[in-house]
Amino acid sequence: MAYVRVDRAVKFFPREDGSEMLVLDGVSFDAKEHGITCLLGPSGCGKSTLLNAIAGLEKLDQGEIEFRVPGSTLHPTSHIPDLPARSPKLGYVFQDPRLLNWKRVEDNLVFAFKGMKIPRESWQGRLEKYLSLVGLLSFRKQYPLYLSGGMRQRVGLARGLAIEPEILLMDEPFSKLDQLTARQLRQDTVDICARLGQTTMLVTHDVEEAAYMGDRVVIFSSRPAHILEVVDNPLEATERDLDDLAFIRFKKRLLQTVLKLVDQEGV
Ligand SMILES: Nc1ncnc2c1ncn2[C@@H]1O[C@H](COP(=O)(O)OP(=O)(O)O)[C@@H](O)[C@H]1O
Ligand SMILES: [Mg+2]
Repeated sequence: MAYVRVDRAVKFFPREDGSEMLVLDGVSFDAKEHGITCLLGPSGCGKSTLLNAIAGLEKLDQGEIEFRVPGSTLHPTSHIPDLPARSPKLGYVFQDPRLLNWKRVEDNLVFAFKGMKIPRESWQGRLEKYLSLVGLLSFRKQYPLYLSGGMRQRVGLARGLAIEPEILLMDEPFSKLDQLTARQLRQDTVDICARLGQTTMLVTHDVEEAAYMGDRVVIFSSRPAHILEVVDNPLEATERDLDDLAFIRFKKRLLQTVLKLVDQEGV
């Protein structure tokens, strides 16, 4: 459906003293088509910067983000303006769901539909489908401020999915939720993504979250970020159970890999 390749991405940000800070130092990896690719790395290493570059919100200084989407030529598309092929349709779920509090739940989705120029005839069907998927159909007329943090994040997820993106980007969407809410929402998100089959990239600093959600885990170094290793999950989404031995083994292996790599880097 949609393929994403990050190729030698380099990004500098200006410091206050006028010097340049290197944030992305040649980041390269392929996202797993149809699956969830977790971008795992320490805070401040440049994960959000990379996700923003994929979304076209931030410009790279060097390197490319390549997309291959249905309807484009065999050549990958990219953000370089003179390449002809179309850009993929992207959904973005933020750490803070960024809802419009003066609009009802369903109107928050409609706002996204309007922004994406989605035909009015399909609004009703999409509202029902995606609010049901996240378990919030009966709250469609509610205002966000009356919802719990977990429910607000579910609205953010429904809004990201309802535009039917080819690529869904999620930036630490569960990190502000309490443990039990986050656990349930991770499970629901994995189920929903497996069902819908879009290509998803999820930023996290949490090894357990990466092991549980990622079909592929891309391990970032600390800043300036480069990729230390790419690990494919040996367990299918349906086989992952936080209390199961096979899962615990994989989580442990991932943690050991991260610790070993970080140690080798001398960080
Ligand atoms: N717009 C910006 N201008 C200057 N520095 C920035 C900007 N955005 C992020 N940074 C800096 O770049 C580094 C990486 O940030 P970020 O990508 O948000 O990290 P992460 O998401 O991995 O925690 C941080 O040191 C951050 O302060
Ligand atoms: Mg971030």
